[in-house]
Order: sequence, then structure tokens, then C-alpha cells
Amino acid sequence: MTTQLVDSFGRHINYVRLSVTDRCDLRCVYCMSNTVQFLPRDQLLTLEELVRLGRCFTALGVRHFRITGGEPLLRRNVLWLIAQLNTLGSDHQLTLTTNGTQLARHALALKAAGIARINISLDSLQPARFRQLTRCGDLNQVIAGIDAALAAGFQRIKLNSVIVADYNTDEVFDLAAFAIARGLDLSFIEKMPLGAELMERNETANESALDYYPSATIRNRLIQQFELLPTTETTSGPARYWRVAGTQTRIGFISPRSHNFCERCNRMRVTATGQLLPCLGQRDLGIDLRAILRANPNDDAPILHAICAAVAMKPKAHGFDTGNQQPPELSETAPPICTMN
Ligand code: GTP
Ligand code: 5AD
Ligand code: SF4
Repeated sequence: MTTQLVDSFGRHINYVRLSVTDRCDLRCVYCMSNTVQFLPRDQLLTLEELVRLGRCFTALGVRHFRITGGEPLLRRNVLWLIAQLNTLGSDHQLTLTTNGTQLARHALALKAAGIARINISLDSLQPARFRQLTRCGDLNQVIAGIDAALAAGFQRIKLNSVIVADYNTDEVFDLAAFAIARGLDLSFIEKMPLGAELMERNETANESALDYYPSATIRNRLIQQFELLPTTETTSGPARYWRVAGTQTRIGFISPRSHNFCERCNRMRVTATGQLLPCLGQRDLGIDLRAILRANPNDDAPILHAICAAVAMKPKAHGFDTGNQQPPELSETAPPICTMN
């Protein structure tokens, strides 16, 4: 008998994105303001608290943890955390999303600690533009990280390229060729006007629409040069994949604006401060797991209860396709959320 989290819309939640730090050594223009203030360390979940949460999610049927940030490899002793999460069960999948700047140093140890797959952000192959997009990044450092991950034996490494109108739309062929040459997968991502981003930059939905570059446009351009074969292969993430004929590479499209994938959502996010967000598009409607963890050092029941409550709050869909951050739409009759079967 296993426990499963099922939300009000019948979706099975078995994947949790754990943000282990808000810090980053880059300042990508679509993600962080140049003057971002990072949180005091005591506001972050400790590594022990993260392991405890891992155990609680496991008890509720979660089997996939993706370690994210900020830049997760900046968190001190993150390898210890990964190794601990890796002991939670043999059927678990541990994955990592990184900007690649620290990978050259850590790739081998990450493999040893139990990371199964790595996704690496790469929006440009032009050093000057890479620096402009990340405000401070060194492209060679990231390419060295990618090569170190390959040398460490990681399979199915995926590049993430956010394509932004007027920044890097001319690079889709070069990014695809780079991925093919190294046998990597590649996801092209539509920039999301995230809630915090809209507020921080005081950006309106209309302004945000200006840099919108739809996945369909990228795909229509790519098929002029590459044969893209449809595939049902999935990573259980939001990307829809095509295989590039005659290569190892799958090209995915993550299209939150043009092709809402919420109906098959299987995930929730824990922020670095321990807010459990039922939906990645709703940054401020979470449950404060940190407070519950700290108030109940010896009793996991309130944590399990809070996770179930968050699943019940999970909205039908994100609200940023219009730049409109509405409260989540709750179903009128919520079926049981922690089902035993
Ligand atoms: P895999 O499919 O497991 O390889 O991972 P992924 O593509 O889901 O994760 P990754 O961390 O590489 O994220 C790629 C992009 O997808 C990022 O822009 C994420 O913010 C976005 N993303 C991932 N999951 C969701 C989701 O549930 N909702 C939304 N809106 N975006 C998501
Ligand atoms: N829209 C789309 N993707 C984003 N990412 C960060 N911010 C945004 C955004 N506003 C991507 C990064 C990284 C992944 C974790 O999320 O490029 O690849
Ligand atoms: Fe944000 Fe990732 Fe860029 Fe860092 S590398 S600024 S976390 S998108």
C-alpha cells in the first residue's frame, strides 16, 4: 500500500522542486534585478530541515526531488543534502537544475552523491551576449561545467534556453547545433512573466508581451534545418519533445504562455525559506512549512497535514499567461487529497 497526493483536479503530485538557496552568482535579466538583496541565512531552511521535509514528502508518495535555487551549488554542503535525500528510497529520482558556473568543480561529486540528471541554463553561445544576459557571467566557465558533467558520465544532460525577443532569437540554430554536437537535450523556454518579477520590475503585462517569443515560431524555424521527429518520450516535466533525426538530441519546448501544460502538472515547489507553493506560477500563496517545522521539532504529523492542505489549494492553472496574477481557482468540491491505494 502506498500513499499518494492527489489534488482537487485529480492530478497526482509526486515531484517536488526544492530550492536550497535564493543566492545566485548570475543576474539573468528575466530572473533577478541587478540590486537584488539576498535573504539572511537564518531565514533559509537548514539542510537538516530539508532532509526532514524530504522524508515527509516521501511518506506522501513523492519520488522525484529536483534541487534548484537560486544557484543550488552555492549552498554550502549541498552535496551532503543530496546524499541524504538519496538514502530516502531506491525508487527516488534526484535531479539538479544549475546555471553551470560551479559544475566543473562539482560534477563528479554530484554523480557520486546520487544526482541522476542535470539541467543547465544556457541562453547564448556568444560570450559578450552571455555576459549581457546574465549581467556578469563567463560563458567559458559554463561550457567547462557542461563538459565536466559529460566527463562525469551524466546521461541525458539538458540545456535550458530561455528565448527572449530582441535578445537571443538569432541563436536558436547555434544552440541546437551545440546540443547536437555534444549529444545533449535542449529545451527552449518561453519567458514567464513571474509574479515577483512583474512586481519587482514594475512590468505590465503589455510590456512583458513585447519580449514574448512563442515556441511555435522557434519550431517552425528549426524544421528548416533539422528534421524533428515527434516523440512521446517525456522527462515528466512540462516540455514537449521532438527528436532530431540521426542524433542523440531531443529538443523540447516549454511553452507556459502559448501552450498551458497545467492539466498534467505533477509538482509543487518549496522555496528556500520553506514556503510550500502549490503552483510554480503563484509565488505568494504558499504554506509556511518553516514555521511548522520549527514549532514541531519531534512531530511530523503537522507537516504532513500542511502538505496535504497545500495540495488541496493547488490551482487548476497558473495565471501568468496574461500577466494576471489571480488567486488560484479552487475546485468547488475537493475530493480526498491524501488517498491510500
Ligand atoms: P525535467 O523535465 O525533469 O528535465 O525538468 P524541468 O524542465 O521541469 O525543470 P527545469 O528546472 O529544467 O525547468 C525548466 C523550465 O521549466 C524553467 O523555466 C522552470 O521554471 C519551468 N518549469 C518547470 N516546471 C514547471 C511548472 O510546473 N510550471 C511552470 N510554469 N514552469 C515550470
Ligand atoms: N521565464 C522562463 N524561464 C525562467 N528561468 C528563470 N526565470 C525564468 C523566467 N522568468 C529558467 C532559467 C533556468 C530555469 C530553472 O528557469 O533559465 O533554466
Ligand atoms: Fe536566476 Fe538561474 Fe539566472 Fe541565477 S542563473 S539569475 S537563478 S535564471
